[in-house]
Amino acid sequence: MSTETPAKKELAAIKGTKDILPGEVEIWQKVEAEAKRLFELYGYRELRAPIIEPTELFERGTGQTTDIVTKEMYTFTDKGGRSNTLRPEYTPSVARAIIEHRLDLQPEPMRYYYIGPMFRYDKPQKGRYRQFHQIDIEVFNEKDPAIDAEIIEMAGALLKKLGVEGTETLVNSVGCRVCRPAYSRDLRAHAERVREQLCPDCQRKIAANPLRIFDCKVESCREQARRFPRIMDYLCPECGEHFDKVRSYLDLYKVNYRVEPNLVRGLDYYTKTTFEVVSRGLGAQNSLLGGGRYDDMMRDFGGPDICGIGFAMGMERLISILDIQPEKKKVLYFAYMEEEGKKKAVELARFFRQNGVECLVEFGYKSLKNQFGRANKLGAAWVCVVGEDEIRKRLYKLKDMTAGTQTEGRPEDLLKIIRGK
Ligand code: HAM
Repeated sequence: MSTETPAKKELAAIKGTKDILPGEVEIWQKVEAEAKRLFELYGYRELRAPIIEPTELFERGTGQTTDIVTKEMYTFTDKGGRSNTLRPEYTPSVARAIIEHRLDLQPEPMRYYYIGPMFRYDKPQKGRYRQFHQIDIEVFNEKDPAIDAEIIEMAGALLKKLGVEGTETLVNSVGCRVCRPAYSRDLRAHAERVREQLCPDCQRKIAANPLRIFDCKVESCREQARRFPRIMDYLCPECGEHFDKVRSYLDLYKVNYRVEPNLVRGLDYYTKTTFEVVSRGLGAQNSLLGGGRYDDMMRDFGGPDICGIGFAMGMERLISILDIQPEKKKVLYFAYMEEEGKKKAVELARFFRQNGVECLVEFGYKSLKNQFGRANKLGAAWVCVVGEDEIRKRLYKLKDMTAGTQTEGRPEDLLKIIRGK
């Protein structure tokens, strides 16, 4: 028997997932903070649902004919024999939470936001990951077309706040259960006539749900889809009127948009309004955010008959086109001598931290010279020197590392200097 240990396989993150490391994470934190602040200005509150849900939630919510449910879910059977799924999207979770907690009976507006990871087993490529993050908002029980326009405006306001340029807003209506059957019938007949030109997946979609052919990325299918009948020509009076009003409110909100008749979006639940913001800076996966109205989901889940609308923005895609530099941190570094100095530095750091100053006391460096070297390397804003003399006099030296100046004082005096007073 060989005594050699087998070569270890290197440990690495799962394909399609990635670490967000310090240096980059500050940009994520800034985006999250801006999103939360903005959503709260529009009356939204955070709703946090679990990452795992019963598989059935997405089968019934996202829809049996979607790529997500047929191909992309991370589904597993737990030890109790139940089928669970890592959420591929957030919308069905919010609807479930509302029903479960009867949030519809509370007086607050039903406007929710959430930021977190989603999971889809798709082929990873630039802008497409298996674990990705969404900034999601959902609104319930608001039928008025003004809300459709308001959430599109809110998405635009966030992008503007973050300095995103070069985007285009596309809107469409996918009708409802009254008008869509006639459209699906004609679409099916049309697709049937060009069956041979469609990929095997789309051939299957003809019977299952011909609308899903619009999601296909194969160029020959896209080419055919451009010649398919347009849902806009089939809208019932209610859907037609709703769409006209959405457009007039978009004008009121001064949103630039384009009507895109093929924008059906890859989820089964949409009714009436659908929209997407695409970005020129993103390449093939150019959809920065997408959303729409889903007026039947709650009722289909056996909940109250209330409508819903929302959108989700992909954070990886958003961050890839942002031009934000993380803010430079202002750190107070303690350089001390001997055990006594260390103890004093720890004590002083507590005082400064309690007063909102970011402090660093490191324990591995012995000489003052070494510690100043570290402070320089780390780009510390100030160094506080805690030597024998300083401890005896209870006056500490503070070096401003940018200006190169040095002052001496009591901790309270140094705090005033650090605060710029
Ligand atoms: P979705 O279009 O599937 O909609 O996803 C929304 C956004 O999430 C996309 O525009 C994209 O930025 C990002 N995204 C999707 N898949 C990936 C991926 N594999 N890697 C990176 N980013 C991705 C929804 O999820 C709906 N729940 C939106 C919604 C909310 N509709 C109504 N309410």
